[in-house]
Amino acid sequence: MSLGMIVVVTAGLGLLVAAAGLAVMWWLRTRSIGVMMAIVVVVAVAATLAGVVAITMRMIIEGPARDVVLSVIAVGGLVGLGVAFVVARRVVAESRRLVAAVGEPPFTAPRGLPAELQAIADALQEAYARERALEGARRELVAWVSHDLRTPLAGMRAMAEALEDGVVADPETVGRYHRQIKLEVERLSAMVDDLFELSRIHAGALRLSRARIGLADLVADTLAGAEPLARAKGVVLTAEAAASVPVEADAGALGRALRNLVVNAVKHTPSDLPVVMRAGVESGMACLSVSDCCGGIPEEELSRVFEVAFRGEAARTPTADGGAGLGLAIARGIVEAHDGVIGVVNEGPGCRFEIRLPLG
Ligand SMILES: Nc1ncnc2c1ncn2[C@@H]1O[C@H](COP(=O)(O)OP(=O)(O)OP(=O)(O)O)[C@@H](O)[C@H]1O
Ligand SMILES: [Mg+2]
Repeated sequence: MSLGMIVVVTAGLGLLVAAAGLAVMWWLRTRSIGVMMAIVVVVAVAATLAGVVAITMRMIIEGPARDVVLSVIAVGGLVGLGVAFVVARRVVAESRRLVAAVGEPPFTAPRGLPAELQAIADALQEAYARERALEGARRELVAWVSHDLRTPLAGMRAMAEALEDGVVADPETVGRYHRQIKLEVERLSAMVDDLFELSRIHAGALRLSRARIGLADLVADTLAGAEPLARAKGVVLTAEAAASVPVEADAGALGRALRNLVVNAVKHTPSDLPVVMRAGVESGMACLSVSDCCGGIPEEELSRVFEVAFRGEAARTPTADGGAGLGLAIARGIVEAHDGVIGVVNEGPGCRFEIRLPLG
């Protein structure tokens, strides 16, 4: 028998055994990794054995030589199985360790796992940490919001009772109470609207009806809308917009995001100082910015202003013009739904909020 023949016969038999091994592996695909390893060894040994047996049948090797070859193969196979057993035990033990760690919150990834298991453990740890942070933020939001709702509600209730009981009767105070109640109701309604919008954004249910719009128009509309507020506060609100900056956007939603930025800027800028809106193109992106004279945002707060319910220096007592800390979270949600990014930097006498969007 020629060498070529031997190769053909062993390769053919090897392929057959490999196919059988793969079939068994497919059948046992959800079993332990240890079983898979045992199958690998068994397939290797069986393929070799099949080849040797076939060739001995053609009398290439005979007698003691054949027995030696067969026993060498058998011993090699046993050694392979032994190693597979040890490795499989380690893998099984490590994966049990991982499962046990997952069962004990707060989850910290065990160290020294095989690479793939370690990657799973690290990914899990990250996901759990994210989930915990989110859960914490949600609980904080509910606490703050209920506090922010309760305080004005208590005030309104006191005023309504005073009116009902006739405790206040002089027309001037009665009028003031009525106005105050109306004001609080408007503020609470706006807050509830914001919360609703935010929950829609978080649920991914923000439906944008995008159209090709020019940022100059959006800036002009926002300017017109915010002008009375700025005038009342004595802030000089101006806009500089490049002639044509087209984007694919939902004009209503994007306008809302921009309005939130402008209202914040006006709120934080002392009277007689300027707030400037700009629209233009920068390094291939449409760019909307609002610069104010707020005196700068503390470095440690810069990264947090977009968080839900964040409103600076932990001022948790609602004041007359105090917001709920939802405006920037909503703005970010809207901008990100437009595949854009929103950011803030301290610049000159204040800070600059900037929205970047893909050009339409
Ligand atoms: N232009 C700005 N200048 C200085 N600080 C700002 C500015 N914009 C936002 N901030 C800070 O970021 C916080 C969060 O702003 P955000 O708009 O989310 O909430 P808010 O204005 O307090 O309330 P809301 O917008 O819900 O009425 C503000 O409370 C303020 O501390
Ligand atoms: Mg705001």
